[in-house]
Amino acid sequence: MKDVIRTLTEAFGPSGYEGPVRELIAEMIKEYVDEISTDVMGNLIAVKRGFSPEGKKIMFSAHGDEIGIVVTHIDDKGFLRFTNVGGLYTETLVGNRVRFESGTIGVIYREKGELKDLTLDKLYIDIGAESKEDAEQKVRIGEFGIIHREFTDLGNRLIGKSMDDRIGCAILVEAIKALQESPNTLYFVFSSQEEVGLRGARTSAYTINPDLGIALDVTLTGDVPEGPRMEVSLGKGAAIKVKDSSMITHPKVKAFLTKLAEDNSIPHQFEVLERGGTDAGAIHLTREGILAGTISIPCRYVHTASEMVDIRDVQACVDLVKAVATADLSELI
Ligand code: CO
Ligand code: ZN
Repeated sequence: MKDVIRTLTEAFGPSGYEGPVRELIAEMIKEYVDEISTDVMGNLIAVKRGFSPEGKKIMFSAHGDEIGIVVTHIDDKGFLRFTNVGGLYTETLVGNRVRFESGTIGVIYREKGELKDLTLDKLYIDIGAESKEDAEQKVRIGEFGIIHREFTDLGNRLIGKSMDDRIGCAILVEAIKALQESPNTLYFVFSSQEEVGLRGARTSAYTINPDLGIALDVTLTGDVPEGPRMEVSLGKGAAIKVKDSSMITHPKVKAFLTKLAEDNSIPHQFEVLERGGTDAGAIHLTREGILAGTISIPCRYVHTASEMVDIRDVQACVDLVKAVATADLSELI
C-alpha cells in the first residue's frame, strides 16, 4: 500500500487540473470495478454493482485535487507572482519549491520585510529564468502549480505533500481491491475541486443520488507541542467525524459508523473539527438532503509540504470503508 501512497502523493493535481491523478487511479482500479467514467467537473467515478435488489447506494468520496498556486504575473527579470488555489499558509511556503505540470520547478521566496507582515503578494517564484522572455518559455500566465516534495517512509509514519487527500484516495483504492461481493451498489468518487469549495462532490452527489454518502479526508490532530486543543491523535485509529464547519454528522450515521467500528474491532476515535469541511458537507445538502458522514484520517501539518499520517490509522480507515461497503443498511435507511 505504501507504493500506492507514494505514487499518489507525488502526482500532480491542483484543483481543476486533476487529470494526472485520475489517470493513475483509473489504472489502479479498472480491473476491480464494473464501470468507470469521468464527468464534466473532473470527478472520476467508479461503480461496483451490488448483488441484492434490497441493497442500497453508497457513495464514497475522496478528493483527488490538492492545494496549489496559479501564476498571475511575470516581471521583466523573469520572476513569477502568484495567487493561491485553496488554503495556503504563507509562512510555510518560503524556501519551498513549486512544480508545474511541464516539470518546471521553482523556488518560492519573499521580499525583504517583517515576517509578521508576510502576505502572499510579497512572495515570488524563481524558476531560474534570466528574463521575462526566458521565463515565458517555461511557464505561462494562468498556469497552475503544486508544492513539490517527495514522499518519505518513516516506518509507521509517512510524510507527503498531498496526504490531503491522496491518502483518502489510496484508502479507497485499497478498499476497492480488497472488497468481495457486496449487497450494496458502491460508487467511488475521486472528486475534483474540494480545496476550493467541495465543488466536485456537489455535482457527483446529485448525479449518483446515494442513500448514504461517506467522505474520506484528513483531519487535524492535537498531539503536537502546543497544538490545538483537540482529541484526535496519530496512531489512535480512524476518526469518526462528529462535526466540522461544513456538516453536523447525522446522529444515526455517527452511531452506525461507531457500531461498525466496535463490531469489527477497528481502532477509532471521535473528531470535532472547529474549522474546515469535507465532501460530506456538500453531499448532505444535495437534493432533499442525504445521510452522510466522514471517516477522517488523522494528519499532522495539514496544508503544508510535509503532511504526516500513520499507516495504522490508514489501515483502520480501509477496514472501516470495507465494513460500511458490505453492511446491511436496512436499519439506517
Ligand atoms: Co485540504
Ligand atoms: Zn482534504
